[in-house]
Amino acid sequence: MINDEIIKALDDKYVNLGENPETYLNGLLQAKPITYWDYIQVDTLLTLQKTRTDFKDEEIFVMYHQVTELTLKMMIHEIKQLSEGENLPEEIWLTKLDRLKRYTRMLITSFDIMKDGMSYEDYNIFRATLTPASGFQSAQFRILELYSTRLKNLINSEGKERLSQNPTTDDYFKHIYWKDAGLNRKTGKITLTLKLFIEKYENDFKNLSEKIKGKTLEERVAQMENPSKELKEKLQQFDHFYNVAWPLVHLETANHYLNSKGENKTATGGSEWKKYLHPKYQQRKFFPELWTEEEIANWGE
Ligand code: HEM
Repeated sequence: MINDEIIKALDDKYVNLGENPETYLNGLLQAKPITYWDYIQVDTLLTLQKTRTDFKDEEIFVMYHQVTELTLKMMIHEIKQLSEGENLPEEIWLTKLDRLKRYTRMLITSFDIMKDGMSYEDYNIFRATLTPASGFQSAQFRILELYSTRLKNLINSEGKERLSQNPTTDDYFKHIYWKDAGLNRKTGKITLTLKLFIEKYENDFKNLSEKIKGKTLEERVAQMENPSKELKEKLQQFDHFYNVAWPLVHLETANHYLNSKGENKTATGGSEWKKYLHPKYQQRKFFPELWTEEEIANWGE
């Protein structure tokens, strides 16, 4: 039997909306039950794997990138709640950081799907059809770093030498580490990969940076009165997983396909990838104040 309180609450809900409750209850009587496939949008999800060749592993390549994008979306979803919440209790930070570490661990431990079992020859043929697209153009990868730390931490030591004294958001973006993947700062020559990426996303990235000034994870932690040792350790672990361990498995895979047979191949995004992809070169840290000078000097070793 339906309890009267629910009927009363439904009645109130629609009356307050100025609607006739009976019409809605009649609708409910006719409505089909929700199913897993409609709720999860399975059929739509499974139509999103469009390949450019008939090599079997290209579909795996596409899906694994999509899985990574969904994982990044879950991570940004968690990070946004920490960024938007003022004075959140530390337990929430600890739980979210555990999740963030788990998502990143999923990325690290699954990356060998890209390396072991995918045919070296097939990959090196089908990747030519993808040029100039590159995982480098993942906007969520950049959004996650913008939410995690201040722009000044996304400038490597060479960039810091070029930066003016009181840099604006525009200045930071001019010198941000990831432009090194496609911009020759001496000649001004830019790869098509980077040019297209900037055209599509740079304004959004700048607006987001302005919007979350003072609210990045790094700044939220600095605003805490007395963060615990446990919290600091979890922040460090996340920093290390995301900015050292994951880049290193990625680099190992790039080495496997682009450099293992004595051929130093150009990547689809055209970067000097051996140098660029190394955490030691990028120097990306979300929480630099939690690391000692020595740990910073040995970053990515
Ligand atoms: C066979 C597998 C892969 C190879 C050989 C590879 C290779 C590369 C290379 C060489 C770069 C440097 C930019 C360029 O010149 O293109 C790069 C950047 C990047 N790739 Fe991959 N990649 C692989 C798989 C993936 C996957 C599965 C993802 C997941 C989305 C991904 C995401 C990225 C990101 C986010 C960057 C930019 C990294 C940064 O700026 O720190 N890659 N990749």
